Amino acid sequence: MYLPLDFNYNGNVSEKRFKEEDIMPNWLRDAVFYEIYPQTFKDTNGDGIGDLNGIIEKLDYVKSIGCNALWINPCYDSPFKDAGYDVRDYKKVAPRYGTNEDLYRLFDEAHKRNIHVLLDLVPGHTSEEHEWFLESKKAEPNEYSDRYVWTKCWIHGIAGHPYIGGEADRDGCYMLNFFKCQPALNYGFGKCTEEWQLPPDHPACIATREAMKDVMRFWLDHGCDGFRVDMADSLVKDDDENKSATGAIWKNIREMLDAEYPEAAIISEWSNPQQSLKSGFHADFYLDHHGNGYNTLIRDNETPGGDHSFLKKDGNGDIMRFLMDYLPKYDATKKDGYISFITCNHDTPRARRTLGIDELKIAWALFLTLPGVPFIYYGDEIGMRYLDIPTKEGGYTRTGTRTPMQWDNSKNHGFSEAPEDALYLPLDNSEDAPTVEAQLSDPASLLNVVKELTSLRHQYMDLWADGEFEVIFAEKEEFPFVYKRGNLVIGINPSDKKASAALTEEAYIRKDGSKTKTLSKVYSIGDADLQSNTLVMQPQSFAVFVLE
Ligand code: GLC
Ligand code: CA
Repeated sequence: MYLPLDFNYNGNVSEKRFKEEDIMPNWLRDAVFYEIYPQTFKDTNGDGIGDLNGIIEKLDYVKSIGCNALWINPCYDSPFKDAGYDVRDYKKVAPRYGTNEDLYRLFDEAHKRNIHVLLDLVPGHTSEEHEWFLESKKAEPNEYSDRYVWTKCWIHGIAGHPYIGGEADRDGCYMLNFFKCQPALNYGFGKCTEEWQLPPDHPACIATREAMKDVMRFWLDHGCDGFRVDMADSLVKDDDENKSATGAIWKNIREMLDAEYPEAAIISEWSNPQQSLKSGFHADFYLDHHGNGYNTLIRDNETPGGDHSFLKKDGNGDIMRFLMDYLPKYDATKKDGYISFITCNHDTPRARRTLGIDELKIAWALFLTLPGVPFIYYGDEIGMRYLDIPTKEGGYTRTGTRTPMQWDNSKNHGFSEAPEDALYLPLDNSEDAPTVEAQLSDPASLLNVVKELTSLRHQYMDLWADGEFEVIFAEKEEFPFVYKRGNLVIGINPSDKKASAALTEEAYIRKDGSKTKTLSKVYSIGDADLQSNTLVMQPQSFAVFVLE
C-alpha cells in the first residue's frame, strides 16, 4: 500500500500528491528505467541476435548506471513483421530470445538486484498468425468470431479505418490496427452506426478485455512487475474525444491490479496524460510528436529555419514552448500519476542524430531532474548514433535507432560472436563509435555524467517522481531555465552563450515555508555560480543547488 507523502505544492502544505485511497506502486517514485530492445542488446549464443541470457548477463551493468527498472520490448513468439509487435502467442517467449524459463530467471535475477521489470503488452492487435485470429477468420462461427472487428459481407469495407478483404473464408472484411499483419482486437465501438459494430459492454468485447487480463496475470504470476502498454488509446473504435470508453476498460484493468497486484505498474503509450492517467495508468509517455513540448526540447528540427530545439546549443530554442505544453498537463495530472520523459525509444530517431555529446549531457541532466518517471533508451547513455540503414522487420526509418549495443572494441563491439554479416542489424563502424568500455575509463564521458545524474536522483527524494516542481526563471527565447524541486534549485543553460538569471525570493523558500539565504552547489556540469542573487551560467552548463 502506498503511503502518500505530505506534498507541498504552491505553498499549500496540507495538499497531498495522491489521494489517501490511491494505490501506487511505491517503487515507481525512485525508478529510473532502462529500455532494452532485445534483438540488439547482447547475444550470448552467437546467432547474431540478442537474447534473454544476454540481458541477464548485463543486469549488473544496468544497475551500475543507476537504472533500477527495465522495459523490455516484446519478446513473445511472433512472425516479426513488426519486430515483435505482431504477437502470435502472448504467453510464449520467442525461441530466438530463449524460453519462458529464461524470462522467469531474468525476473528473478533482476529482483535480486532490486530491479523491476516491465514487459510490453500489446492489447490492440495480434499477429494475423495468432490462433485467435486463425479461428476468427473461419467461415463457421466460433468462440473467437467476434474477438476481432469484422464486417458482415466480403464486399463491405470499413469507412474511416484500414481493413482487409479477400483473405479469409469468412464472409466479411476485418479491421487493422497498424500494419497489414496486425488485425484489430474487438473492444467494441464508442458509437455504433453499423449492424456489425458491437458496443463495448457486449459480452464478446468484455471477453477480449478479460483475455488481456489473463495475459497480464500470467506474466505477473511469473514475476513480472507490470507493463508498458502499446497503443493504449487504440482499444475502442470511434470512441468519443475524451476516449471515455477506452478509459473505462483501463479503469477496470487498474481495479484488477489494485486488488490483485498492487505493486504492479502500467505505463501507457498514449501521450495524453489527462486521458491516460485519469484512466488508471500510473505513468504516461511524453512522446515525440511534432510541435509538442517534448519535441521542442530536443527534436524540433523539422520546423523551417533550422533546429529550434531548446537543448541545441545554437540557442534558437524557447523554453516557454515546452512549458506552455507541459505545465497544464503536469498541473492537471500530478495527483493521478506521472509523465515519463524519455531519452528516446525504439520508434524515435536517436537524439545523437542532431545533438553532440556535450549537448546530450545537458539534455539527460534535464530529463533526469524533471518530475515523473524517466526512461533511458539503451545506448543513449553513451550517445549511440542513429544509422541510416535499410529497414528490418517493419522498422523503416525506425531501424537506425535499433542497432547493436556498443559494449567495447572487441569483435562486433562485444555484442555478438557471430560473423559480422550475420548480425541482426549492422554496427556503428565509425572510428569514433562510442563504447561502454571506453567511456567507463573517461571521467568526463557521457556515461559517467549519466551515472552521476542517476545517483543524484536517487540521493535526493526531492528529485523523485513525485517531488514538487516549480518554475523559478523562464523567459521567452532566453536562457537559462531555472526550476525548483523541493529544496533543490536547478539551473540549465544548454546554449553556447553565457547566461544569467536574477533569483527571486521564491527561490529561497524551503518546502516547509521557511526562508534561507544559503544555496549550496551540490552538482554541476560546466561552470555555474551564484553571484549574490544572480545565477551566472557559463555556456552549456547545468547546476543543482540545495537550500541549506
Ligand atoms: C507502437 C510501438 C511500435 C509498433 C506499433 C504497433 O507504436 O511502439 O513499435 O510498431 O505500436 O504495435
Ligand atoms: Ca542470440
